[in-house]
Amino acid sequence: MPVNEITHLRDSSQPNLVMKAIRITSYLALATTCSIALHVMAQPPKHPSHRPQHPPHPHSPPPNGMRPQFGDALPGLTKAQMATFLDGKDDFEDTETEAGGLGPIFNRSSCVTCHNAPATGGAGPINVTRFGRTENGVFNPLATLGGSLQQELEINAVLHEVVPPEANVVAHRNSTPLFGLGLIEAIPDQEILRNVRRTPFDGVLGKVSKVADAATGKTLIGRFGWKAQQATLLSFAGDAYLNEMGITSRLFPVENAPNGNAQLLEQYDTVADPEDVVDPATGRGDIDRVADFMRFLGAPPRMPPNNPAAAAGRSVFQNTGCAVCHVPLMMTGPNKISALSQKEVWLFSDLLLHDMGTLGDGIAQGTADVRDMRTAPLWGLRASAPYLHDGRAQTVDEAIKAHDGEAKASKDRYLRLSKQQVQQLIDFLMSI
Ligand code: HEC
Ligand code: HEC
Repeated sequence: MPVNEITHLRDSSQPNLVMKAIRITSYLALATTCSIALHVMAQPPKHPSHRPQHPPHPHSPPPNGMRPQFGDALPGLTKAQMATFLDGKDDFEDTETEAGGLGPIFNRSSCVTCHNAPATGGAGPINVTRFGRTENGVFNPLATLGGSLQQELEINAVLHEVVPPEANVVAHRNSTPLFGLGLIEAIPDQEILRNVRRTPFDGVLGKVSKVADAATGKTLIGRFGWKAQQATLLSFAGDAYLNEMGITSRLFPVENAPNGNAQLLEQYDTVADPEDVVDPATGRGDIDRVADFMRFLGAPPRMPPNNPAAAAGRSVFQNTGCAVCHVPLMMTGPNKISALSQKEVWLFSDLLLHDMGTLGDGIAQGTADVRDMRTAPLWGLRASAPYLHDGRAQTVDEAIKAHDGEAKASKDRYLRLSKQQVQQLIDFLMSI
């Protein structure tokens, strides 16, 4: 499959050309006038970051109705764990400021801006942009030009990052829901490995994503993100603080330079790294607190199976071959947090990468090749529209019809279902 069929070529629009000109001008200026001065002159000292502090929470869970809701904590947390959950939620909802290290380039100023539907920690309609260049079938993330993730906002207009003209692949990624991620983190690597098939079944193979994990320093099986590009919540938190908000931490201490321009970064990055300062009393920073918030965030609540159509839809789901990838149930291993220990996880994913053919996003990332995508967990689907990695599908039906590659046999079977079976399947998917 030629890459230009699965992604769209960037259009060389006017702002990009202007920005290129600005970049070239600044490079020239630096080469001719500033570079000697920059080397001789000492940089002004950087300021320590001033980051929001929160009073401790009372050790009691928030009032709750009878039924679990989206955004609730995991059931069975201790009082201390509940307080940790609420503390981390504060940080997740905080709006970062320049004095606290926001930027110089970033995508939004708080986690909750992108993760809020239908409650803090949920999905959202905001997309981020990735770019790169594919030549002779080899993907180049254009890291020296600021790739593969674009930061679209900045603390000063001169820093504005653009998709560089060198890019011939541009892909959008939709914000995913974070409900139940502690349970997904607690699934042992072995469980995920067991889902890989030696010989294709219904056209499906699957492969694990192997990740050099920043938080543990180990090679682990990736499970988070559209490409299964992170293995632990602490690493994802550090990655998101850096790449979505421009906040450096002990795990990710190096700022992103706008389109790779180190001089511009040096000039505008006035807060000392790491900006997420570790509290000397606890040894923890915002990345730790936010990771705990996500770890203790409950799974999407399942709807009671009181609808006969939804019950029938469960067998349509099995018979259509959806469950080959969207594996309904996995188990967590033994865990020192009892709320996460040996629990059922009704995630509807094998957490593997699959060659999705034309649905692939054209970006290679870690183990994931240009057409590989992680099986999206389907739990909580009723609250996570729009669907698919770039949010192109407004409905579940559109999402299924875009399946290709390893999922083609299953998609074709879906297309042959009766109207009634399709409705049963959708009813079932809206209840999980
Ligand atoms: C600009 C919007 C934006 C902001 C701000 C943002 N995220 Fe995200 N988040 C996304 C997108 C888009 C994805 C999917 C990215 C991918 O897979 O490439 C994502 C994915 C994730 C995932 C993986 C979820 C899964 O399904 O496996 C985690 C965890 C996460 N974000 C945590 C955070 C945290 C913590 C913060 C704040 C420090 C944050 N995000 C801020 C947009 C955002
Ligand atoms: C070969 C494995 C495979 C099979 C079989 C498969 N899927 Fe998927 N599914 C995926 C992957 C991978 C994604 C993420 C694709 C993307 O966005 O790029 C996905 C995404 C989805 C989504 C969108 C989820 C979201 O949060 O955006 C829905 C809905 C879905 N699948 C339903 C189904 C149904 C129903 C079937 C059976 C008819 C099915 N899938 C069969 C692998 C599979």
